[in-house]
Amino acid sequence: MPLTGRRIVLGITGSIAAYKSAVLARELRRRGAEVRVVMTPGATEFITPLTLATLVDHPVYSDFTENRDAGTWTNHVELGLWGDLILVAPATANTMAAMVQGQCDNLLLAVILSARCSVAVAPAMDLDMYTHASTQQNLDTLASRGVMVIDPTEGPLASGLVGRGRMAEPEDIADRVEQWFKNNLPWFGQKVIITAGPTHEPLDAVRFLGNRSSGKMGFALAEALANQGAEVHLVTGPVALPTPPRVAYRIDVETALDMDREVQARWPAMNLGIACAAVADFRPSETSSAKWHRGDMPQAIQLVENPDILWRMGQSKQAQQKLVGFALETGEGTSSALSKLERKNLDAIVLNTLADRGAGFAHDTNKVTVHERGGNCVRFELKSKRDLAIDLIALWTPKPNA
Ligand code: C5P
Repeated sequence: MPLTGRRIVLGITGSIAAYKSAVLARELRRRGAEVRVVMTPGATEFITPLTLATLVDHPVYSDFTENRDAGTWTNHVELGLWGDLILVAPATANTMAAMVQGQCDNLLLAVILSARCSVAVAPAMDLDMYTHASTQQNLDTLASRGVMVIDPTEGPLASGLVGRGRMAEPEDIADRVEQWFKNNLPWFGQKVIITAGPTHEPLDAVRFLGNRSSGKMGFALAEALANQGAEVHLVTGPVALPTPPRVAYRIDVETALDMDREVQARWPAMNLGIACAAVADFRPSETSSAKWHRGDMPQAIQLVENPDILWRMGQSKQAQQKLVGFALETGEGTSSALSKLERKNLDAIVLNTLADRGAGFAHDTNKVTVHERGGNCVRFELKSKRDLAIDLIALWTPKPNA
């Protein structure tokens, strides 16, 4: 779905066109967006919050205070920070004038005033109000401040008059929103699969073979890509990390076999694969469903090889797909990384070495060198994994029209 992972605050103001906001909310959801609705007091005269709450599967916000007796209030700053885009549809002449003035005597205006994301308006009003110099000047001012204006259309109006002032149709508004994301987010429309964390290979009911991978690098990449518009499929082994905002799919797995199954099923539909997971190369050939006790434990544990997930992705890689691996080495590691780049049919390999302080497992920082197919090599200094993730994805950002 084109808007999966995108967050839209839908502001509804007091116009008869508010009935179309229900269809718009549904359409945005149908395209995958998460929607929060903020209604002005005037809007609630035209359509009930219950309708919108049901359609977006979340309570509607319309008051500064949530529960007067308990003293709880709606945090307009949080809502403004939550969204990728605030879409005011319908936008009345009054709300637009208030936006120009920076007024905030209702919750929606306060959300708009405190938001860091972009704002779009879909005006709706009678034709004479629309053509009035004040309204036109306000629209120009809003546009000059970067507000996206989705022009009203011509046709019969609630007043009985005919002319320009009808709110654009919900489908067309949703198209404009989609286009806006496409223009503003370099990874919009791209699907990326990321493996992260360790795998746990069970020995008995309670024990496993594993490693110290924290998942932090993979999660940082997932966050950076999702923020820039990608539809992220994050397949992770056992980690203690919350799902980053905007990540569309998180698939939790335990073992290498589980991870392999999830990855191979999704890989054909992806544009980019990033293998960050520290996959166990082998697993016990037999596992006990009960707990071993002293005395009844095996004398030796037989190991069998796990599939190389990344190698398998490389084998089935299509011309339009890009594939990136990670190589964690204990020494210098360049020649070993380069041979993995070849053997696994990768487009790039990110080398980090435990010889560098602050690099590798469990740290919040990392220091890497990226070797690209064709011989190009990019070195990054020690930095936080979140900053590094932003730098790394800049290397792989799809070129426009590519
Ligand atoms: O060969 P090596 O294990 O050092 O290669 C590391 C790269 O291969 C990493 O990107 C890791 O995620 C991936 N890998 C994998 N499946 C395995 C082993 C490694 O996807 N079984």
